Amino acid sequence: MTQNNKQFYLAPMEGITGFIYRNAVHEFFGEGIVRYFTPFIAPRPKKGMQSKERRGLLPENNVGIPLIPQLLTNKAADFAELSHEICEQYGYNEINLNAGCPSKTVVGHGKGSGILKDTEALDRFLNEVFEKCRCKVSVKTRLGMYDPAEFERILEIYNQYPMTELIIHPRVQADQYRGSVRMEYFCRALEKCKMPVVYNGDIFRVTDYQEKMAQIGSSTDKPVKAVMLGRGILKNPALARMLCHADDPQESGEATKEELRAFHDRIFYSYQEIFDGEMPLLFHMKELWGAMGSMFAEQEKSLKKIRKSKNTAEYLAGVHEIL
Ligand SMILES: Cc1cc2nc3c(=O)[nH]c(=O)nc-3n(C[C@H](O)[C@H](O)[C@H](O)COP(=O)(O)O)c2cc1C
Repeated sequence: MTQNNKQFYLAPMEGITGFIYRNAVHEFFGEGIVRYFTPFIAPRPKKGMQSKERRGLLPENNVGIPLIPQLLTNKAADFAELSHEICEQYGYNEINLNAGCPSKTVVGHGKGSGILKDTEALDRFLNEVFEKCRCKVSVKTRLGMYDPAEFERILEIYNQYPMTELIIHPRVQADQYRGSVRMEYFCRALEKCKMPVVYNGDIFRVTDYQEKMAQIGSSTDKPVKAVMLGRGILKNPALARMLCHADDPQESGEATKEELRAFHDRIFYSYQEIFDGEMPLLFHMKELWGAMGSMFAEQEKSLKKIRKSKNTAEYLAGVHEIL
């Protein structure tokens, strides 16, 4: 039986899914998106959170957005302390643990997916986290460091703790983002997980979603709770809405040019208010176009204009040609 889940999450993406991007997605293409995650916040016990991180958590910057803050650390005391501060000061009641980041620097410090390397240490860490934390805790994980078979032991550990949900990106750290997601390991894990499970990985088009849900459905009757979308939304901000309308012959949910223009302008002018000067603004907008540009592959000349723009006037001229 095909899994027919229509609950979507916007994945945390460091440097991109800050409150401005998140609000624009919510306002223009929020249909079907039931949870949003902050990019990871790494506790700095002596210095405290950065002002950018605090701004991202403020309730007034997330009106109507069901937001889950995410923390990146391998120190249970730091996790508990910062979770407490975030929940008390900003009114959240759930914190997500990043056990998936594959970056070499992060992993080198035993954080992100690096936390999966030593399973005894992982067990001690989670034990202390669940003992000390007063809020709900969920986990976003990869299958392991080198070999997806590592997940069997990792899951035995996860299954001992009352996490609200487990979000699985079925790759190992060594995969980075290469190759295909390891669906057979995801399906096996889903069968064995005691907690609700969220699928995450490589959904860029409606057909990717249909294929993956069919594959999961053919291997187990156990439902996935939701599907988390990352790079697919960066490339096509209306992806969640299109997935909601996948079986709707009347309405595809695809973004119109007017919507994309309004979405772009909301992000552009909001960034303009917070960034000091044109260069950081252009840097962030070009990064966005690096992904969104694939929707306009036939307009390469205008995309190049955006990429090569040296000031906002040149940049906006390129955008006008496309949208
Ligand atoms: C630029 C970028 C930044 C990311 N930052 C984070 C992060 O802060 N926390 C996290 O858990 N995952 C992070 N991820 C991983 C995504 O949340 C997601 O798990 C990954 O992209 C796979 O999903 P997708 O195939 O739908 O993109 C990041 C991914 C990218 C591409």
